[in-house]
Amino acid sequence: MKQRFIFIVALALLPWSLIADDWGKNGHRAVGEIAEKYLSEKTKKAISELLDGHSLAFVSNYGDDIKSDRKYDKYQTWHYVNFPLDQRYEETPKESKGDIIQAIQTAIQVLKDKNSRREDKVFHLKMLVHFMGDLHQPLHIGQAEDRGGNRIQVRWFGQNSNLHTVWDSKMIDSYQMSYTELAANADKLSKKELDEIKKGTLMDWVYDVRILTKEVYESANDGDRLGYEYMYKYMNPLRNQLQKGGIRLAVVLNDIFDK
Ligand code: ADE
Ligand code: ZN
Ligand code: ZN
Repeated sequence: MKQRFIFIVALALLPWSLIADDWGKNGHRAVGEIAEKYLSEKTKKAISELLDGHSLAFVSNYGDDIKSDRKYDKYQTWHYVNFPLDQRYEETPKESKGDIIQAIQTAIQVLKDKNSRREDKVFHLKMLVHFMGDLHQPLHIGQAEDRGGNRIQVRWFGQNSNLHTVWDSKMIDSYQMSYTELAANADKLSKKELDEIKKGTLMDWVYDVRILTKEVYESANDGDRLGYEYMYKYMNPLRNQLQKGGIRLAVVLNDIFDK
């Protein structure tokens, strides 16, 4: 009887284990929290009005939360883009259901259009906050054949995992900082460093992230046992990605709401 109960509970929980959470809750929140520091007063006011006073961190996981609702199935491919490591996005066939680059462009378009309905603006603002985070997870700009590292099986501190999940959430979880601590302890940047992160187009940012994507693909092989040594090497690059994601999210939002 007890065994049957456990079996039924396990079966009921299975779909949850199949829903990938991207950066994981705290990664997305840290991106939102970092972005707040770089918003103009005018942008802050416009956003606060659309989000009913909630913070960017608070709404940052909305894009993953809605995956549980079949109504939003058409957005499933919007969280990532895959193309060969030695090719350019512009030259490769596009995912017919849309990808993260198209998703970000669509959200910006809806938010800039003064004829958009308020509820569409709210939806796309929450999606934009989420996708600017996903864009900076190096394996969300991955290779199709391994589904952005999801098919590269590794052990994480002795537990079965895969390279994608290590970068989505395992490393951040093992680091044991809250999202506010991650944001407060983001590296101090010189004006030159900050300008370097801010400058360029969305596509420039894609190719900037790809430099790390290639490094991450070289960092582990199927069957590797990862733990402290991997964290020691890659936690700083990961923290830099959260910071770049936050700063660039603010650049995009200031461009929409304060121009
Ligand atoms: N599914 C297929 N490819 C993916 C990727 N690069 N990131 C997240 N989910 C994916
Ligand atoms: Zn992911
Ligand atoms: Zn996502």
